Amino acid sequence: MEVTFVLQDGTSQTVEAEDGWKLMEVAVDNAVPGIDGDCGGEAACATCHVFVAPEWRAVTGERTAPEQDMLASTFGVREDSRLACQIRTSSALDGLVVEVVGS
Ligand code: FES
Repeated sequence: MEVTFVLQDGTSQTVEAEDGWKLMEVAVDNAVPGIDGDCGGEAACATCHVFVAPEWRAVTGERTAPEQDMLASTFGVREDSRLACQIRTSSALDGLVVEVVGS
């Protein structure tokens, strides 16, 4: 599957991802700028904050409870905010587009 990260400078980076990874791990593995994954994917740092494109919000699902708590104290949160460590890659997400918010 492929995932496109829209970067903070307006450019995009499209990477290959295997099923079952955390989206944050895919970003870190591909050195996507602006996604650090400092807490290792525990929804405890928000350094993997992304905005999910409208057409992908239903497929990526709802925020997890720990994610909701973390986003409640994160700067710049919008309705389409997600923590990339709480999104699992799968073939259903092939073509996913997210915007990197950064920390
Ligand atoms: Fe820390 Fe996602 S990696 S919240």
